[in-house]
Amino acid sequence: MQQDMIVILDLGSHENTMVARAVRELGVYSEIKPHDITAAELKELPNVKGIIINGGENNIIDGLPIDVEAAVYQFGVPVMSVGHTLAKVENLPAWPEHTAMLEVLKKFVFDECHATANWNMKNFINDQIELIKKQVGDKKVLLALSGGVDSSVVAALLIKAIGSQLTCVHVNHGLMRKDESESVVRVFRDELKANLVYVDASERFLSKLAGVADPEAKRKIIGAEFIRVFEEEARKLDGIEFLGQGTIYPDVVESGTKTAKSVKSHHNVGGLPEDIAFKGLIEPLRILFKDEVRLLGESLNMPAPLVWRQPFPGPGLAIRILGDITDEKLDILRKSDFILRDEIAKAGLDRSVWQYFTVFTGIRSVGVMGDQRTYDYAIGVRAVTSTDAMTVEFAELPYDLLRTISNRIIAETPHVNRVMFDITDKPPGTIEWE
Ligand code: XMP
Repeated sequence: MQQDMIVILDLGSHENTMVARAVRELGVYSEIKPHDITAAELKELPNVKGIIINGGENNIIDGLPIDVEAAVYQFGVPVMSVGHTLAKVENLPAWPEHTAMLEVLKKFVFDECHATANWNMKNFINDQIELIKKQVGDKKVLLALSGGVDSSVVAALLIKAIGSQLTCVHVNHGLMRKDESESVVRVFRDELKANLVYVDASERFLSKLAGVADPEAKRKIIGAEFIRVFEEEARKLDGIEFLGQGTIYPDVVESGTKTAKSVKSHHNVGGLPEDIAFKGLIEPLRILFKDEVRLLGESLNMPAPLVWRQPFPGPGLAIRILGDITDEKLDILRKSDFILRDEIAKAGLDRSVWQYFTVFTGIRSVGVMGDQRTYDYAIGVRAVTSTDAMTVEFAELPYDLLRTISNRIIAETPHVNRVMFDITDKPPGTIEWE
C-alpha cells in the first residue's frame, strides 16, 4: 500500500469507527488498532503519519485503567489524545459534532502529520489487484456469491484481478426475492463473464423446512444446508486453493477488539465450511466501510441496483414468514415485497431508507371487498433508517406513500386484505421479525 495512514488506538470508545471514517472522509487512510500496540507492530504498518489515542467510556478493563505503551509516544509521529479520561492524561476534551470534528482532524492530519490525501478508490483498486495477484499466483479461488453488495463487489474486483481463476457459486435456496437469482446470473455470467456455477437448491431447502415453525430451527436448517450444498459444489471443482470472502471492516472491528462492549454475533449464511481445506482466504474488503464498498462497486462500473442493493439476510424470506413456510406464503410475500420496493423506488427513497420489506404475519382478519366479506392475510410493512443496523428508527414514510403501498398490495396480491406498518425502533425491536 502506497497510502499514508493515521492510526487510531482503541481504548474502548464507541466513537472509534466514526473517527476512522472521518479521517478517510478527508482522503487519508485510517485504521483502528488495539491500545497496547507495540512500537515493533507500528513499524510493520506502512506509512504511519500520525496516531490518535481515542479514549472511551470503557477505559477500565477488569478494574484496571487501560494504558498506552510509552513507545507509542516515542514513535516519532505526532500523537493526539482525545476523549474520556485516560490513565496518563486526564480529562481530555470530547469530540465535537461532525463538522467541527472534521476541522480538528484536518488540522492534525494535514498541518501536524503532513499526511497526503491519497486514499481513493482508484489507488485502492490498483493496490488490491496487485496484492490479490501476488497472493493467488496461478491458483484458483472459490467465492460464494449471494448477490449481496459485499460478495458482489468482491466478485467484481476478483474478476478484474484474476479473471477466469475465479469460480463463483450462487446457491438459490428458494428464499430469494422476486427475480433475484436471475439477476445475479444475468449480471455475473452474461455481463461480467464470470465462471458462475448456479445451483438451484430450492426444492432441497424447502423440503427440509416444511412444517418447521421455530425461528431458530429455521435459521439452523438453512445455515447447515447451505454449507452442505456449498461443499458438494466445491468438491466438484478441481484444484481450488483459496476461498474469497466479503468480510468488511465493521465485521473485523466488531468481532475482534479487546475493549468492544457489544460484539455483534455473526450470523451469515455461508460461514466457512469447516472440513474443506483452503490454503487461505482472500478478503480484499477487510478494510472498507459499507459506504466505501459501494463506492468501490461504482468505481468498478457495477450496475447501480447491485451496488445500492439493501442488506438482505442470509436466511432470506424464511425469517420474514412467521411460522412455517409454504409456496403460497412465499408467493404472497414476494408479490407484496416487489410492490413495496417498486413504490419506494418511485418515491426516490430507495437510497435513503436503510432497509424495507414486507412480512408475512400469518394473521388472518375480516375485511370487505365489493359486497363480499373476506377472511384473508395481513401483511406487515417494515421500513427503517440506520447507518449500521445496530440501532434503527422506523422510517417516517409519507402517509400518501403508505396509502399507495397499502392499496396496491391489497389490489395486486391474492389473499391479502390488510396492511400494517411496523412502528418499532431497534432496540427494542429487531429489524427482521424472526
Ligand atoms: P436484526 O433483525 O438482528 O438484523 O436487527 C440486523 C441486520 O442483519 C440482517 N440479518 C442477517 N444477515 N444473516 C445475515 O446475513 C442472518 O441470519 C441475518 N439476520 C438478520 C438484517 O437483515 C439486518 O440488516
